[in-house]
Parts: sequence; structure tokens; C-alpha cells
Amino acid sequence: MTTSENKVKNGLRISHGIAALTSSHPDLRRLKRQSEAPAIHGNKVWSSSYAIMQYLDDNPLPDNQSVLDVGCGFGTLSCYFSKIQKARVLATDADAHVQPFFDVTCQENGVVMPFKAMRIEKMTKNFLTDFDVLVGADICFWDEMTALLYKLINRAIQAGVKQIYIADPGRQPFWDLADLAADKFYGTVKSIKTGKTKRSEKYILTINNS
Ligand SMILES: C[S@@+](CC[C@H](N)C(=O)[O-])C[C@H]1O[C@@H](n2cnc3c(N)ncnc32)[C@H](O)[C@@H]1O
Repeated sequence: MTTSENKVKNGLRISHGIAALTSSHPDLRRLKRQSEAPAIHGNKVWSSSYAIMQYLDDNPLPDNQSVLDVGCGFGTLSCYFSKIQKARVLATDADAHVQPFFDVTCQENGVVMPFKAMRIEKMTKNFLTDFDVLVGADICFWDEMTALLYKLINRAIQAGVKQIYIADPGRQPFWDLADLAADKFYGTVKSIKTGKTKRSEKYILTINNS
């Protein structure tokens, strides 16, 4: 099996060696009936995370990295870092209601890792010193997220985080963040095609602080 296979079976889409929940997954359907729904768009697997997976398949992380996933949602990207990049991962999200979905994603991938309900705004410089890599996929979706993420990146750089990857389909708040990050942190944007259509083009703001 290649790591970029993309099939749906038993409600799971396998891509880059990772199983992602689709809307037909029985546990996802059950959880949507039984538990309170995620309220800040963490209600499905968003597609920008695949751009990060595609990039890192070709440019893997060094061994034994400590990774912080912010706004992890269902945790598909967190699982990729744990299972494929062999990293130590802390998955975080502002919305505690994503956790049951995160737990199912971890089970389906045979991965065990911690989840913490935590907002970006609460991630202090001291907290960030524990991490080598900071990632976020489809997290810069509202205007106010630009300033939140810019401040987070600033704290992360001061805390010694070495690599930052923020992926997005190209919304305006993301480009505003990319402009700020280019000026202040020498951030660059990579364009990644994850499929065959124009809509599948995604962008990764990459900051190297090593
Ligand atoms: C569009 S979803 C993306 C989820 C996941 N990264 C993915 O690619 O499937 C955005 C996620 O960010 C979370 N979020 C929104 N605002 C946040 C904040 N201020 N701090 C941390 N997480 C936040 C939401 O709860 C949601 O799970």
C-alpha cells in the first residue's frame, strides 16, 4: 500500500497511511446522535491537513520530535504525526466536544496520545517550550484568528519551537497571517496540490526557527 492511497471502506478514508472518519462511519453517526456536536467547525475532517501530510511524506521530521497540534478537531493530522512521523504529539482544541470523535480516530489508527481542551489564547510561552513543532490545519478561518495565530507564533518562536506549519485552502485571514509572518518571522508559503482539481490546491505557511 502506498501512503497516499485514498479509499473509503467501513466509513474510513485511508490516505497517507492514516484512517480518517467519514460521515458513514458507524461510531461517528452514533456520536452525532448521542453527544453534543462540536460547535466551532470541528465537525468533520477538514482537507488542508492532507497538504501537511503530503509535504512531510517527502520532507520527514527528524526523529523523536514533540509536536503540538492546535485546533486538532477529529485528530486525523495528530494521528499522522504520531503514527507516520513517529512524533510525540499533544492534540489540543478549544472545543471539548471534539474529544469523542478524536478518540475514535485514535482507535481506528491504533494510536494512543493525549488530548487537551485548550484555546490558542491560553498557550503561554512557558507551555510552548515543550514542543519542537507546532501545526494547525484549517485553523485560520475567521478574521480574528489572524491576530490570535500571529501572537501564538510569536510566543512559540520565543519559546524555541523550531518548525511551524499552518495549512489552509487560501482564505483571506490566512493570507493576512502569511503576510505578517513573512515580515516578522521570514515565513514562506508552499502551494501543495492534494488532488486533481483547482479546489484541491492548499497552502502551508512554513516558519523555520532552527
Ligand atoms: C475547521 S476545524 C479544523 C479541524 C482540524 N484541524 C482538521 O483539519 O480537520 C477548526 C478547529 O479549530 C478549533 N478552534 C477554533 N478556535 C480555536 C481557538 N481559539 N483555540 C483552539 N482551537 C480552536 C475548532 O474547535 C475546530 O476543531
